[in-house]
Amino acid sequence: MALAAESLGVGSVILGLPRPAFTGEKADELRARLGCPDGYDFVIALSLGYATDQKEAHDLREENISWIR
Ligand SMILES: Cc1cc2nc3c(=O)[nH]c(=O)nc-3n(C[C@H](O)[C@H](O)[C@H](O)COP(=O)(O)O)c2cc1C
Repeated sequence: MALAAESLGVGSVILGLPRPAFTGEKADELRARLGCPDGYDFVIALSLGYATDQKEAHDLREENISWIR
């Protein structure tokens, strides 16, 4: 979704931080308000918007990559 958004000129930020809201005491209320179907769990959120700034990509961090051949 992030790549698709980028291809349309829309910026995005992946967010995992909302997860506790989906497991906390108001989880049922939140799920109902968002219309989350039963059987689906929160994994990540993706905020979308038009960027007001641009920055270069990070350098490749080879030490963080595991290649499976
Ligand atoms: C699975 C996942 C969850 C993330 N959750 C958050 C988040 O909850 N809050 C946040 O500020 N950034 C979160 N990030 C990082 C942002 O999506 C984004 O990569 C970062 O803010 C961009 O910083 P950078 O360009 O310096 O890497 C998450 C990234 C990943 C891959």
